[in-house]
Amino acid sequence: MDAAWTAGFVARAIEHWDRFGFGLWVVRTIEQQEVIGYLGLSMPSFLPDLIPADRMPAVEIGWRLHPDHWGKGYATEGAVAALHGAFERLGLNEVCSVPQSTNTASARVAQRIGMKLERTATLPGTEARGPVDVDVYWITRTEWLAGC
Ligand SMILES: CC(C)(COP(=O)(O)OP(=O)(O)OC[C@H]1O[C@@H](n2cnc3c(N)ncnc32)[C@H](O)[C@@H]1OP(=O)(O)O)[C@@H](O)C(=O)NCCC(=O)NCCS
Repeated sequence: MDAAWTAGFVARAIEHWDRFGFGLWVVRTIEQQEVIGYLGLSMPSFLPDLIPADRMPAVEIGWRLHPDHWGKGYATEGAVAALHGAFERLGLNEVCSVPQSTNTASARVAQRIGMKLERTATLPGTEARGPVDVDVYWITRTEWLAGC
């Protein structure tokens, strides 16, 4: 991802906040206040390709951190906070997560926060990339409350 792609991504994330009142958070370390990635809830444009219409609109939880900050529990800590916001503040009934099937670290974060693998699927290719195999995880409000 280059600077232009990243600028577009940030602009879309800000628009998402303006439109829906929730979205992706910037992740910073407490000590240095250094930006190390993003994490949070969103309704990415690819969801209609994966989720049945009667389950839409769906909200996804996602994360991406700088490799220097992997293996410290930050993604899981932030994801727990995001799920709390999804169920307690937004009042959602369920949340999905759609990591690439090859991304085992991301799958482990989903599993650690109590999400269950429902199925695998293939996202259709776009101009920018080919088809992508993904795992579709879900957690319901009832499951989340049971784990609290
Ligand atoms: C997905 C991603 C955020 C996961 O990062 P991660 O460091 O594995 O996840 P966490 O921050 O939750 O850290 C958990 C790990 O830290 C370890 N850890 C160390 N100290 C810890 C602590 N104090 N508390 C909790 N976990 C701790 C855990 O044991 C765990 O390691 P393990 O998975 O080997 O058991 C990261 O791999 C990433 O950004 N990848 C690239 C982007 C990406 O793939 N995004 C998803 C799009 S599909």
